[in-house]
Amino acid sequence: MSDTKKITVLPGDGIGPEVTNQALRVLYATGKLFDVEFECEEFPFGGAAIDTWGEPISDVLIEAAKKSDAVLLGAVGGEKWDTQPKDKRPEAGLLGIRNALGLYTNLRPVKVYKALTDSSTLKKEVIEKVNLLVVRELTGGIYFGKPRYIKQEGEEEHAVDTMDYRTSEIERIAVAAFEAAKKRDGRVCSVDKSNVLDTSRLWRKVVLEVAKRYPEVELNHLLVDNCAMQLVRNPGQFDVIVTGNMFGDILSDEASMLTGSIGMLPSASLGNGPGLYEPVHGSAPDIAGTHKANPLAAIASVALLFRYSLNMNDAAGLIESAIEAFLDNGFRTADLAAGSDDKVLNTEEVGDQILKIIQQNKNELQEQA
Ligand code: IPM
Ligand code: MG
Repeated sequence: MSDTKKITVLPGDGIGPEVTNQALRVLYATGKLFDVEFECEEFPFGGAAIDTWGEPISDVLIEAAKKSDAVLLGAVGGEKWDTQPKDKRPEAGLLGIRNALGLYTNLRPVKVYKALTDSSTLKKEVIEKVNLLVVRELTGGIYFGKPRYIKQEGEEEHAVDTMDYRTSEIERIAVAAFEAAKKRDGRVCSVDKSNVLDTSRLWRKVVLEVAKRYPEVELNHLLVDNCAMQLVRNPGQFDVIVTGNMFGDILSDEASMLTGSIGMLPSASLGNGPGLYEPVHGSAPDIAGTHKANPLAAIASVALLFRYSLNMNDAAGLIESAIEAFLDNGFRTADLAAGSDDKVLNTEEVGDQILKIIQQNKNELQEQA
């Protein structure tokens, strides 16, 4: 009898629904190959939820998400909702679900595909060896610190945000980073601004403490400004980068550009309950409905879902090698610089090809077994 897993699906806005559709096709088909069925429940999220409920996130959605095995998200946002007050913007939905599900660990793997080494704005020899993982703290720091306000003070306005971290918050993200490094190249680079910030001084102290439990993992520290520089100077030096919420937001966008297209990068957000999986790219409203969206990041997010929420590494590997083979075969999407021999596919055709390759590879594996 096959196993049934519950997935909460949040397609969101812009190209979110289009890429999520292709991701779902891959989810169902891959699950079938491994005897897993999926029960998916879909909710409007972000701008779509503002249009439906007047709020970017709803309690019914949170309750359903908590009861599911994983959450699959497309993308949120668009000009239409840019004038909303800050707690009614699509982004507030994103922060809301991270907080509600306690998703304190954000994993953003950045891998340069061999077939795309010419797509980056950086030289081929600089990016060739890039295979790094940004581990971003996702539920603390300046994104959630209090007090925060803008108020009138005499003639002018005064705005305050608060950056705070507690030992326990730093400890658990450091553990996540060391655990990830153990399964990779065994190196952690912790990034902070400890020459200026107290939160960073505590960060460094706690990371050093946690490191004692992982003698097999090599640890070094970089100041965030230096890390930003090293990421374009010599990104091949990194294995796992662990950092706080805001530094991680900035560095992960920088790191994504090493690959040539943000359209390739998946992410996983994990806590103690169900994980959330989403492409790193935004909702790209300008190309929504044109069938040009690249669904590979959403599809790669499904691979992470299999790996981290369902503990199905073979299924994850099957999807990841299909993406690699897709590119090696000369298939491209509109956002990926295509050479004259390349075949540029639309969103649905990418899904078709990936499914075909997955099926072929699975057949080959079975024949070998
Ligand atoms: C990200 C995004 C979000 C963030 C925004 C949309 C709130 O930039 O996931 O990196 O800053 O965390
Ligand atoms: Mg960001």
